[in-house]
Amino acid sequence: MTVTAERASTLDMPAAAPGWLTAAIAAPSVHNTQPWRFEVDGTEIRVLADHSRRLEVIDPDGRQLLMSVAAAAFNLRLAIRAHGRVPSHRAMPSPGVVLAVSPAANSRPRASVLRLRGAVSARHTSRAPFTDIAPSRGALREMFAAASIEGAELSVCPPLTRDSLLTLTRVASERLLMSSAYRDEMAAWTGGGRFDGVPDSALGPRDARQRIAGRWTGHGRPVMFESAPTIAVLTTAVDSPRAWVDAGQALQRVLLTASVYGLSAQFLNQALEVTELRARVNARFGGRFTQAVLRIGYPTAAPEGTPRRPVPDLLDQNGRRG
Ligand SMILES: Cc1cc2nc3c(=O)[nH]c(=O)nc-3n(C[C@H](O)[C@H](O)[C@H](O)COP(=O)(O)O)c2cc1C
Repeated sequence: MTVTAERASTLDMPAAAPGWLTAAIAAPSVHNTQPWRFEVDGTEIRVLADHSRRLEVIDPDGRQLLMSVAAAAFNLRLAIRAHGRVPSHRAMPSPGVVLAVSPAANSRPRASVLRLRGAVSARHTSRAPFTDIAPSRGALREMFAAASIEGAELSVCPPLTRDSLLTLTRVASERLLMSSAYRDEMAAWTGGGRFDGVPDSALGPRDARQRIAGRWTGHGRPVMFESAPTIAVLTTAVDSPRAWVDAGQALQRVLLTASVYGLSAQFLNQALEVTELRARVNARFGGRFTQAVLRIGYPTAAPEGTPRRPVPDLLDQNGRRG
């Protein structure tokens, strides 16, 4: 019996799918909650949002949850393309489904795709000081393009805006830390010995100058951070679940592009989690909606890895949802 090209492509998917899903789950997620699940059938992989993993205190509307799932969906698209298949995708095709991706026609992956794919498992959040060398213009240009391809905008803050954003982050951090619910939620997602959450090994040191208020700051000795941090914001034109999915895919394309250039990033999102302060941040960016605040730079040491839940635990076969 002759196997047609179309039938061959359908049969091809399940064999490669586990590798693609391993790439998907390497994505960053808020508090490393990994709020994703996957459905695989003969022709399509659906990336689902697991709302049971939503952070009630800092993310009541699920914005950061959807961004995290979308970051995983971007990795999935990338892995399929790097495997030599064009991923056709639909965002939010039905309730609960963040992205449905089908590996379509065969196509030789470009070198730029393979470079991004190569960064998937190497990329990690870095909360440590960066060198004093500013990110190269070429790297920043590529990161701006990466955001815009996925429907968002990345801007690097000029010094005055940067300083006021760092101040707002400190104010937000102090305000959030006054809430026992916030502290409890953080504590619930910190510490080792499990497949999710932020392990102690990934916590950052404290900034001796007290300018950079990281969320996951360890209790160790204060250290000097770079003197002129590069702070960038990722924004969207509207603030809707669909825009958060765009923002999450843009975020991941930006982070992987940064990795390709030897750069790492730390999130400084606390101001976005206090309604009044997020409005003040947005006002500095022409009324666009800020989805992430990133400190970007060349790491002084490779960032620590973080655990992931195993793929089989996340997989609902043949459209059956667990
Ligand atoms: C939407 C989103 C928001 C995040 N917010 C923060 C944050 O405010 N502070 C922080 O240190 N890390 C933040 N992170 C990074 C996660 O903690 C990190 O991705 C997770 O622990 C997995 O680690 P990895 O990025 O090293 O793989 C965020 C990640 C995502 C996707």
